[in-house]
Amino acid sequence: MRNQRWKGSKWWKEAVVYQIYPRSFCDSNGDGIGDLPGIISKLDYLKQLGIDIIWLSPVYRSPNDDNGYDISDYQDIMEEFGNMDDFDSLLREAHERNIRIVMDLVVNHTSDEHAWFVESRKSKDNPYRDFYIWKDPKDGKEPNNWGSWFSGSAWQYDEATGMYYLHIFSKKQPDLNWDNSALRHKVYDMMHWWLEKGVDGFRMDVISLISKDPNFPDGEVNGLYGDLSPYCAHGPHVHEYLQEMNREVLSKYDIMTVGETSCVTVEEAKKYAGKDRNELDMVFQFEHVSLGEGKYGKWSTDPVNLKELKAVWKKWEEGLEGVSWNALFWGNHDQPRAVSKFGNDSSEYRERSAKMLALCQMFMKGTPYVYQGEELGMTNASFDRLSDYRDVESINAYHEMVEQQGMPAEEMMSYLKRAGRDNARTPMQWNGDVNAGFTTGEPWIAVNSNYREINAKRQMDDPRSVYNFYREIIRLRHEEEVIVYGDFEMLLEESDQIFAYKRKLRETEVFVFCNFTPNHVKFEEQPAKASVLAGNYEEEPGGYLRPYEAVAYKISAPEES
Ligand code: GLC
Ligand code: CA
Repeated sequence: MRNQRWKGSKWWKEAVVYQIYPRSFCDSNGDGIGDLPGIISKLDYLKQLGIDIIWLSPVYRSPNDDNGYDISDYQDIMEEFGNMDDFDSLLREAHERNIRIVMDLVVNHTSDEHAWFVESRKSKDNPYRDFYIWKDPKDGKEPNNWGSWFSGSAWQYDEATGMYYLHIFSKKQPDLNWDNSALRHKVYDMMHWWLEKGVDGFRMDVISLISKDPNFPDGEVNGLYGDLSPYCAHGPHVHEYLQEMNREVLSKYDIMTVGETSCVTVEEAKKYAGKDRNELDMVFQFEHVSLGEGKYGKWSTDPVNLKELKAVWKKWEEGLEGVSWNALFWGNHDQPRAVSKFGNDSSEYRERSAKMLALCQMFMKGTPYVYQGEELGMTNASFDRLSDYRDVESINAYHEMVEQQGMPAEEMMSYLKRAGRDNARTPMQWNGDVNAGFTTGEPWIAVNSNYREINAKRQMDDPRSVYNFYREIIRLRHEEEVIVYGDFEMLLEESDQIFAYKRKLRETEVFVFCNFTPNHVKFEEQPAKASVLAGNYEEEPGGYLRPYEAVAYKISAPEES
């Protein structure tokens, strides 16, 4: 497929991305924390899986209030992860294997321990004062009613100057003031520095939040605080700033950019990543992972409704056609495990449904992202005790809900087990040895107790494993041009059991049918003159799709067959 180039073809459209959460990936020195040498030691594993790009969650210096999403030095490496030499080796070793590395760019906020903030809080006339968002008290209280996304008020009072600073996330993550041009240019200089080193792009953390409504109005109250989203997401200057960033930095390199755009709609996504907009290459949208949310938002145990899931993907796939490009994902470090949320993690159906999700995701149109362990069908940890949780979001939410809002503790625990971010942050399960082969020491977060059954070593040796299914599907994605560039059309929209679609490029068509249920489902849509391209059962389906069956058919162009 690589021999034929045309306008619109891009390496990052043809690639499969693998997300590494370094803290939980592989520990090389027995301190219980994953690190850069650990990642280097697993590059051959990733090469064998067939991925093309690593998205590295933050590895910068950080006091780890939010596991590296609170950065105290953008041009240094987190001590626990190694040093800059280790990073340079990682980049070199990855490139030697034709694997690119995309960095996490966390510039909506810094750590409160970043030198800019240390300066900023000193005095009102400090040269860095305006790098952050400071406001006077209103009637002796917070400047407005906004609630932090990590619980409590979004404003923190600072004694030194008697003013409040804004923090959408934890109080150790003060928001940067993007309206300050000096700050923006410091960020651009830092980006140049990494790109000159040879990194291959950026995943931009909550980039949709960088421009705030200058009036800072109260938000609609839900629970104890007002909702800041309408005043922070897609704010007045966000596109102007991204275009500036593109002009000054991104356009000068052959890189890939993907924005984490919380609260994004199709219309807004076309602005962030429209092909003639000179902003980003693609964005992560969150509508599909938000399905099943209830009155407490993500703290819910409601199941995902398949028809709604299909409607979301139809909207995004068809909505961005020809204008932008989708990012395809089921999970990441902020979501529960894909197989636990969208599939079925019971011992009976775990493997089958994990494979079904792989095929369903990878044959859609867009760049697919695999989150570490997804290729093994790793499941939610579902910790029973609060003391097992490490995530600042989960712990803060528990205290606010139970202690301030009077929710019964068991109820909140059931939500954490279903939706807490630590479900996806337990150590990568490498083998059946102690601590799943992740560390020889005490892991920073407990290993999922199912590691003897679910681990990489076992799956690499088993041709029918989830791992080897991913390899096969990734291989097909690299081979079949139609899967990358073909048009997308949703099929069987009315079915509440089968997720089906068609891809078409010139004369070649691929049909995908995925049974999202544990039932046998009547199936009469086998396309004529088609051959099976991939499937998660040995035998072709008859008049039924079997539990969690996924099958893809191909009709080749006459000259190809
Ligand atoms: C993003 C990250 C998440 C982090 C938050 C604040 O949503 O993915 O892990 O907590 O931003 O940086
Ligand atoms: Ca370590």
